[in-house]
Amino acid sequence: MKILVTGGAGYIGSVVTEKILQKNHSVFIFDNLSTGNKKLINKKAVFIKGDLLNGDEIRRVFQKNDIDAVFHFAAFSQAGESVKNPQKYYINNVIGTLNLLNAMRDFNVRKIIFSGSAAIFGQPKKIPIDECAEKNPTNPYGASKLVIEDILDQYDESFGIKFVSLRYFNAAGAVEKFGEIHDPETHLIPLILKAAKLKKTVEIFGTDYDTLDGSCVRDYIHVDDLAEAHLLALQFLVKRKKSEKFNLGSEKGFSVIEIIDKCKKITKIDIKTKNSGRRLGDPAILVASSKKIKSILGWKRKKNIDDMIRDAWNWERKQN
Ligand code: UFG
Repeated sequence: MKILVTGGAGYIGSVVTEKILQKNHSVFIFDNLSTGNKKLINKKAVFIKGDLLNGDEIRRVFQKNDIDAVFHFAAFSQAGESVKNPQKYYINNVIGTLNLLNAMRDFNVRKIIFSGSAAIFGQPKKIPIDECAEKNPTNPYGASKLVIEDILDQYDESFGIKFVSLRYFNAAGAVEKFGEIHDPETHLIPLILKAAKLKKTVEIFGTDYDTLDGSCVRDYIHVDDLAEAHLLALQFLVKRKKSEKFNLGSEKGFSVIEIIDKCKKITKIDIKTKNSGRRLGDPAILVASSKKIKSILGWKRKKNIDDMIRDAWNWERKQN
């Protein structure tokens, strides 16, 4: 198949691109490099520099190439930043997706796998979070992802575009040639590992949450397991021709403090920490139920938190 990957120069997009190529599909990466990184562009893919906010640029991609399916990663994704600058998130994420979907509709492309987010749930009432849980995002980033799911439902009904939304919990780890490069880095595990490498201090954002040790609990999922779910989602769309939404996590929660302790053990470095205040828009606990994705897509987690930290550490040590 010919697959268009928006945001293919980003962390998750680059890992998924590598996996799609391993299955012998061809890949067209569409990325404006605003948060993506040139180093993460797969040499075996065709790279098109372009912006989803420019409807003509994305239309041209469909006009020139016979695309069969789309993997849509391109988005801004920092919850904290989205509270300070909501319009940036609504405009980029929502309008960009509308331009993409309109181009798909006009060029008769009817399959899309969307990067959803656990951030659509906000502060959950029940753990683990299943697909039916109430959706009350606590930040504009999560709200933008929820609006897009509504738009996807509507584009299915109105134009027959079938989608799978994979609502990621916290992606972590790396594969051999692809991993996390963000500038600035805001994610917990790479920040801890950078602190280990550069002898810096890690900030713990909040120690007064209603959790066992007071720090936030998240469900970390290896980016390789997450990539595998995308391939299964593509198979599902090809065979079943219907839309679905899945939560994608490991069903296990770890607090910020637990993650720091694990990083200390794996790196064998005594990483310095400091307690800082809460970060804007952070829910206390997010842990996924994987029941639905296991039963419908046959997805299974292969890697655990130690694998994620070990792989992220190997990746971090290779970066300059
Ligand atoms: N944290 C710290 N110190 C830091 C950085 C993060 O204590 O220096 C804490 C955060 O407050 C949070 C946890 O570590 O409690 C994880 O934070 P990340 O920034 O790594 O990840 P988020 O949970 O904010 O967000 C990630 C993705 C989102 C996705 C969300 C779903 O970035 O796109 O997971 O759970 F929506």
